[in-house]
Amino acid sequence: MTRVFSGVKPTGHLTLGNYLGAMRRWAEVDQYRADALFCVVDLHALTVDHAPARVRRLSRQAATLLLASGLDPERCTLFVQSHVDEHARLSYLLECVATDGEMRRMIQYKEKAAREQRRGGSVRLSLLTYPVLMAADILAYRTDEVPVGDDQTQHVELARDLAVRFNHRYGHTFTVPRATSPAVAARVMNLQDPASKMGKSEDTGPGIVYLLDEPDVVRKKVMRAVTDSGREVVYDRESRPGVANLLEILAACSGGNPEELAGVYESYGALKKDAAEAVVEVLRPVQQRHRELCADPGYVEGVLREGARRAREMARPVVDAAYRAIGLLPAGAGEGAAEEAVALNAAR
Ligand code: AMP
Ligand code: TRP
Repeated sequence: MTRVFSGVKPTGHLTLGNYLGAMRRWAEVDQYRADALFCVVDLHALTVDHAPARVRRLSRQAATLLLASGLDPERCTLFVQSHVDEHARLSYLLECVATDGEMRRMIQYKEKAAREQRRGGSVRLSLLTYPVLMAADILAYRTDEVPVGDDQTQHVELARDLAVRFNHRYGHTFTVPRATSPAVAARVMNLQDPASKMGKSEDTGPGIVYLLDEPDVVRKKVMRAVTDSGREVVYDRESRPGVANLLEILAACSGGNPEELAGVYESYGALKKDAAEAVVEVLRPVQQRHRELCADPGYVEGVLREGARRAREMARPVVDAAYRAIGLLPAGAGEGAAEEAVALNAAR
C-alpha cells in the first residue's frame, strides 16, 4: 500500500492556504487511499524566534484542527513530531549526507534568513538544517508520496536526493519519495499582496484567512481583497494575480475550474461575493467540529498518544537500519547484536 506522510508546523494559526493546499486532500483523499501519517512538526517551529507557551498552544490547536478537518484516527496516524525520537536521530545521519551548499540553495532558507537579517535578528542554525529534518520526517517512514502545497516541492526534492545518495553509498535503506500537489490552489496568495503566499507566520492579518475566522471576518477579508486594474474578469496569474487568486479560491471551494468561472462573472464585486460565501461554507463544518473537539481535550490527547506509539513502531526499524548501514556499531545488548558484531569483524 502507498505510504503517505505530510506535516504542518505550529508557527501560527492555520490558514485557508494550509487547508486548500494540503489538509483538505489529506482528509478527503489520502487517508482513504493510502497508509497515511500526518504530523504536527513542532521541532520545525523552533527554527525561528518562538515563545514556548505559544508553540505548545499552537501544536494542540493544529492537531485539533486536523481532526476537525476530517482526519480519522481509525484511518490514519496523527501525531506530534517531538513525541517520536526517530526524527531527530535520523536527521543527524542525513546531515552527514547533505552538503552545506545544498542547504544554502534552498529558496525558503534564503528568503527567511534575509527577512530575519532585515529585522536585525540572528538566523538560527536550525533554519539552515531544517530541510534535513524534514527529509528525516519523510524518509523515516519509507514514504512514497508527500502531499504538500507548491512551496514545499524543493524540500521534497532534497529528501529525494538524500535518499538516493544514502542508498547509493550505504546500501538500499530508504524509499525515494515524491511530492504531490493539488490541481487548484496549490499556492493560495495573500489577499492584500497577491505576489506573496498566504502564510500563517506573516503578520499582515487582513490578507490572510484563518481557519477559525468568524464568517463576517472572512467576508470582510475577501471583499477587501486587492484586485487588479482592468474590469473584466479573466484568469491570468501573470497580469491579474489578485483576480486569479480569487478565482482559484472560489474554484477550490466550489469544485469548479478557474478558467470557466472567469467567464461567469461580469464584475470583481460579484466574484468576491461568491468567493467569500464559498469560503464561509467550506470553513463552517470545520469550525463546528473544532468547537466540539475543544470541549474534549482528553480525546485529542489520546489520539496523539496512540499516534506517536504507532509512528514510533514504524520509524524505529528504518532508523535502526540506517544506523547500521552508515557504519555505527550496534549497542552491545542481546544476542543479535553480538552476532552482528562478529560478522562485522570478520568482514574487516
Ligand atoms: P506550513 O504552514 O508551512 O507548515 O505548511 C503546511 C502545508 O500547507 C504545506 O503542505 C504547505 O505547502 C501548505 N501551504 C501552506 N501555505 C499554503 C498556501 N498559501 N497555499 C497552498 N498551500 C499552502
Ligand atoms: N516544511 C513543511 C512546511 O513548512 C512542514 C513539514 C515538515 C513537512 N516536515 C514535513 C511537510 C514532512 C511534509 C513532509 O510546510
